Amino acid sequence: MCGIFGYIGQGDAGQNILNGLKRLEYRGYDSWGVAVVSRDRQNGDSTIEVAKKVGSIGALEELKDLPKSNIGIGHTRWATHGGVTEVNAHPHYSTDHSFVLAQNGIVENYQELKKELAQKGYSFSTETDTEIIVRNVEFRLSQINNLKEAVRKAFLDLKGRNTIIVLSSEHNQVIAVRNGSPLVVGIGDGEYFFASDTLSFADKTDEVIYIDDKQMVEYKDGDLKLFDVENNKELKIKIRKLDHEDVSIDKEGFAHFMLKEIVDQKHTIREAIQYSEEEMEPIVNIIKNSRNIYTVGAGTASFAAGQIAYFLRKYAGVNAIELKSYEMESYKELFTENDLLIAVSQSGETADTIEAVELAKQKGAKIGSIVNMVGSTITRLSDFPYFLRSGPEICVVSTKAFTAMCSWGLLLALSVKGEAEKARKAINNLSEELDRHLNEDFFACVKKVTEKLLHHEHIFVLGRGQNYYLSLEAGLKLKETAYKHTEGFAAGELKHGVIALIEKGTPIFVLISEDNSKSDMLSAAAEVKARGAHLIGIATKENELFDDFIKTPEGDYADSIANIIPFHLLAYYLAVELGYNPDKPRNLAKSVTVK
Ligand code: G6P
Repeated sequence: MCGIFGYIGQGDAGQNILNGLKRLEYRGYDSWGVAVVSRDRQNGDSTIEVAKKVGSIGALEELKDLPKSNIGIGHTRWATHGGVTEVNAHPHYSTDHSFVLAQNGIVENYQELKKELAQKGYSFSTETDTEIIVRNVEFRLSQINNLKEAVRKAFLDLKGRNTIIVLSSEHNQVIAVRNGSPLVVGIGDGEYFFASDTLSFADKTDEVIYIDDKQMVEYKDGDLKLFDVENNKELKIKIRKLDHEDVSIDKEGFAHFMLKEIVDQKHTIREAIQYSEEEMEPIVNIIKNSRNIYTVGAGTASFAAGQIAYFLRKYAGVNAIELKSYEMESYKELFTENDLLIAVSQSGETADTIEAVELAKQKGAKIGSIVNMVGSTITRLSDFPYFLRSGPEICVVSTKAFTAMCSWGLLLALSVKGEAEKARKAINNLSEELDRHLNEDFFACVKKVTEKLLHHEHIFVLGRGQNYYLSLEAGLKLKETAYKHTEGFAAGELKHGVIALIEKGTPIFVLISEDNSKSDMLSAAAEVKARGAHLIGIATKENELFDDFIKTPEGDYADSIANIIPFHLLAYYLAVELGYNPDKPRNLAKSVTVK
């Protein structure tokens, strides 16, 4: 979702901002803009020049009217209030063009603020909630005549999770304030990068300042200062070292990031379990000493949270319950200091998941997390942070992060049981199996099934036990990239309604592992086949019921993890065949930083 990138330094601001925005592209956006300060060499006057576009970020040449500058800000917008137009794209000018402002978040009280400002005589030319912040800063400025103070006061009027960045035409001044949506400052050699994530400048510097909620950072005439936005007190700046092991954003010869990330899984599942017994010990101990264990996430991460809770129940005998991060209302009063909440998130910045963590934390619950992005908000809110170490996941649709989350979950569950070695063995074996399995024959087999799905509008995926959450995730994958109505559901639900939807030729996937759920799964398969379904088996062993069969590698404890990979490829090939971009599905954002 929206991304912010500001640059101050000796280099070309336009080019640096464009590079930064490109590295933020993966978050999802529909329009973008850049603003730089332009100085008239003869009279020394400064003006701000803004260029905005709808669609993908192109080359700097596209911004041909943008002057050379050493200071500027940029923004990628994912529309919330107001359509996808150049006018609604950020940054937005103040009426006198003395400053521009960009925002990440949603102003929840924008209607009230708009009414108040309109009564004061302010008018609006966009449909965005962002313009309300701009006019409010103008109003405050008319009273105080100090930009930093005006921004601070205007920011305090905002409700909701918001981060804003302001560029002034005077004093070489950039101000950014955070409350909820992410904000970091990279410190290079005489350069500063204000950004939504560290990945956007990880190719330039490894020194970073994490800006916390309710903090304001100001660069002015060569000085960088940090303030508490509520009381304006200056705070000490702490510079930290970034520890991004993999900062490259490169398709490495693959046609799309999605395909690269699918193939990456043979390594990433292994990386996720590189934790020694001592390193797992803190979370294992807290699990053993907690009353309730909750796992929580949104989207793909919520299904991983489900799978992790399943592993904890099944292999560790722990009463773990998965929650949806956006459905916490009825739980919030129930958390106590004897509980543990494990947040599951690729980005570590999903607004709903952060809020779930905050709710549990307020009640004294301990927080564990498994996150991919180092230095992200959820990590910093956690008492027991763990990392996937999958490298950047750029495709909006999550693949390698999901299997890494599940792999770590298996390690966690078996560590609680004192059998971590079994998890290591299963995941390492699966990694080797995948290395052999992800070959041309496998791709051809999946492509053959893809052809048969192209013209179907409704697809179903049945799973049970260790494959239940996998079936839900499989359904999500096909929805996201191929825009096909695909539902994953518990095979046990079949006779309670879903069977009514089955017609001759309806594609039904069955996920089957060699465990005690196999016979029930085969019964369900027979029942749908008897009603004319086209049955596609995802299993380690062929069965005469299957019309099509995609063989998955033997995974032992990790069977279910292997079973999602055919769906990753099916989702990929379907998107490509149907002419969609699998890396950037319509309307979706990778990092959902607003509620
Ligand atoms: C968005 C993405 C999904 C992701 C979900 C949660 O919906 O498109 O791929 O699973 O957010 O994101 P997180 O970063 O918390 O895992």
